[in-house]
This record gives sequence, C-alpha cells and structure tokens, in this order.
Amino acid sequence: MSKPLLDLTQLGMRFPTPQGEFVALKNVNLQIQKGEFISLIGHSGCGKSTVLNLVAGLHFPTDGGVIVDGREVDGPGPERAVVFQNHSLLPWLTVYENIELAVKQVAKGKDKAWVKEQVHHYLDLVEMDHAADKKPDEISGGMKQRVGIARALALKPKVLLMDEPFGALDALTRAKLQDALMAIQAELNNTVIMITHDVDEAVLLSDKIVMMTNGPAATIGEVLDINLERPRNRVAMADNPQYQKYRQAVLTFLYEKQAKNELSGSVEISKQKDAKKSA
Ligand SMILES: Nc1ncnc2c1ncn2[C@@H]1O[C@H](COP(=O)(O)OP(=O)(O)OP(=O)(O)O)[C@@H](O)[C@H]1O
Ligand SMILES: [Mg+2]
Repeated sequence: MSKPLLDLTQLGMRFPTPQGEFVALKNVNLQIQKGEFISLIGHSGCGKSTVLNLVAGLHFPTDGGVIVDGREVDGPGPERAVVFQNHSLLPWLTVYENIELAVKQVAKGKDKAWVKEQVHHYLDLVEMDHAADKKPDEISGGMKQRVGIARALALKPKVLLMDEPFGALDALTRAKLQDALMAIQAELNNTVIMITHDVDEAVLLSDKIVMMTNGPAATIGEVLDINLERPRNRVAMADNPQYQKYRQAVLTFLYEKQAKNELSGSVEISKQKDAKKSA
C-alpha cells in the first residue's frame, strides 16, 4: 500500500462552551489514498463538518493532527478546496469572474489566454458555459452549486472537500450533479471527502463510506469498502444485489447500531425539558 495522501491521526476536537468543555470528536483515525472518493455519513450533530473543517484547516484540532501529502495542516491552502452546502459565490461577480478568480490563484505567471481557456474548460465541465455572464442571483440553486464545484476544481486541488454539496437540491438536479461529479473525478482523479445524509448518494459515489458514531466524543464506527465497478450507472444499480447489500449495511449502522444512542439521547433531553417545565 502506498503512503496515504491524507492521514488523520488520533484527531480530536474539544470546544470550550459556557457549560465547560464539549468533546465533539475523539480518536479519529483515517488514511485516504490519492484518488479515493470517501463519504462521511452519520447522524446530525455527530461531527462530520468538524472533521471536514479540520482537514480544510478552518479549525485547529485540540488533539492529534491531519497530514496532507506529508505536511501537517496548519491553515487553509489551495491544495484543499471546499464546497459548502450553501454555495458561497461572490454575488457581485459574474459566473465567469467567480471561476476566473480561482483560476488566477493557480495561474503563476501564465498569460491571459491561458486563464481564459481554463475558465471555459471548467465552465464546460459543469455545463455552465451558457450562463458565463450571469450574476449568481440570476441563476438557480443547482446552477450555483455547479459553479461552486467548478470554482473548487479550478484550484486544481489535491483534495476536494464537500459538505453536503447537493443537500439543498431537488432529486433530479442532484442526480445530474452526482453523475457530473463522478465523470469529473474519473477524469481528474481528485481525492474527495464528501459529507452526505443520503445513503444512496454515498454508495453510488464512494470507494469507501466512513460511518461516524453519535457524539459526544464521536469517532469512526465502521468503514465500508464499496467494490462496485466504475463507471457506475444509477439505473443499473437499482437491481444490483451488491449495491443493495452495501445500502443495507449503511442503513443498519445508522438506524440500528447508532439509533439507540440517539433515541435515548433525545429521551434524555425531553426528560430534562419536562423537569424544567414542572420546576
Ligand atoms: N464552535 C463550536 N462550539 C461548541 N460546540 C460546537 C462548535 N462547533 C460544533 N460544535 C458541536 O460539535 C458537534 C458536531 O458538530 P458538527 O457541525 O461537526 O456536526 P455535523 O455532523 O456536521 O452535523 P450536521 O449533520 O447537522 O451538519 C455538535 O454537537 C455541535 O453542537
Ligand atoms: Mg454539518
């Protein structure tokens, strides 16, 4: 096995809160190879975004660390691009200019013609060439998300970090973007970490599904290797028995193995609420 591109070692995050320290993550260990597509899945609040933010360098871990390509992460960097759930395009720039900004970051002395060619290449990749001159508020949510992905890819990141990138989209747009992402990843061989709540999305896109336990002190519960041939076709997957088995494994983890904690947790909270009410 070659050296991993990404190495999370004994990663932990403790947040200070008025009630004292809150242990969000504990002992997260994960190695990711170049070109792998990883999904992070787990119940709301378990710590998925925290993991992503630590890899992005937007948070600093209180324990352990993250190594990307042999270097410890000590802040954000262009080799790790982030796509957030709520597309974060600059509203005063056109679609073209939003992507151009990213291209210029990696242009390093290249001429104007090169920049232009690159911007069109990425616009093309996400099929947004037709809306190059529109402002973000003139295009749909799915289109904004496509531009966000193009902008992230234009940075030619070693690692693409995506926090529920398709969460806010309708099913049809979502399916289109999932297919586009699979095609782009096949072409560029990016290493991807994607957070999702959608079991089908995780199985369809991933090489590995990393399933997180419920917090506090959330950690990796199970890692599922998805050995389905690529390119993958969503229609064909519907009656692929292996696909169904993977799907079942994730559902079992989420709704049987991790469900009990969550339920007893919410029972605990409602008990506290009841106690407050009667006090
Ligand atoms: N700055 C902070 N201070 C205190 N607690 C925090 C902070 N950021 C996150 N947390 C807590 O850490 C835990 C993990 O949060 P995180 O946002 O990583 O969860 P998540 O898995 O991404 O959830 P969701 O699926 O709802 O987005 C939660 O209990 C959250 O309340
Ligand atoms: Mg989150």
